[in-house]
Amino acid sequence: MYDGVFITFEGIEGAGKSTQAKILFQTLSEEGLPCLLTNEPGGTPIGNAIREMLGNTGFKDMAPLTELFLFSASRAQHVESIIRPSLEEGKIVICDRFADASIAYQGFGRKLPLTLVQDTNEKASWNVKPDITFFLDVEPAKGLTRIQNRIIELEVPADRIEKENLEFFERVREGYLYLSREEPHRYRVLDGSLGVDDLKKIILESVNKELTKRKFRKNLLFG
Ligand code: TMP
Repeated sequence: MYDGVFITFEGIEGAGKSTQAKILFQTLSEEGLPCLLTNEPGGTPIGNAIREMLGNTGFKDMAPLTELFLFSASRAQHVESIIRPSLEEGKIVICDRFADASIAYQGFGRKLPLTLVQDTNEKASWNVKPDITFFLDVEPAKGLTRIQNRIIELEVPADRIEKENLEFFERVREGYLYLSREEPHRYRVLDGSLGVDDLKKIILESVNKELTKRKFRKNLLFG
């Protein structure tokens, strides 16, 4: 058991989750609350090395199981060296993607058996589970257009998963919707087509509610 609060952001490519994770981190930090912003795959030097391998477009033939284990290896390192200690210190940990992404991408997207992904998730994350998960839901076609625009604008190449087709991302979205039905107590499904400020407000209200239930009594919106 720990005193901290674990908040994750999920969504398909181009849903706007990284922007909202950063905004939440900035807002909570400005309020003087102890918090940490991190991401998966990555979050540690080992995780970042694994992230590079996972994104490498030269590895077109990566087997789904290899992919699952690489994401899980990054997660095991991240939970053990960053997430769990921070939660034990009482911090608010904001993570841009976590174990649910393996259910959505490797379970639904790659069609690996769900029980296998669930078991692997439990082991890799030492049963650390998010308290709140914001799922920013966008139409896959819209998310992919956003990503393609970003790739052109920033002149960065698409990574191995960004090169997947529309059907793949439609299955990934189904995966997240499945999770939101299975775990309604922690899932907040948000309309990713809303503006940045509207989403920020909804997210802050939700986090505020959770924090006031706990020892973080400060009112983030009005205090
Ligand atoms: P990012 O777009 O948030 O940087 O995430 C990198 C990619 O990794 C993205 O395509 C989603 C994918 N992913 C998985 O397939 N499984 C996982 O468990 C995680 C954490 C990410």
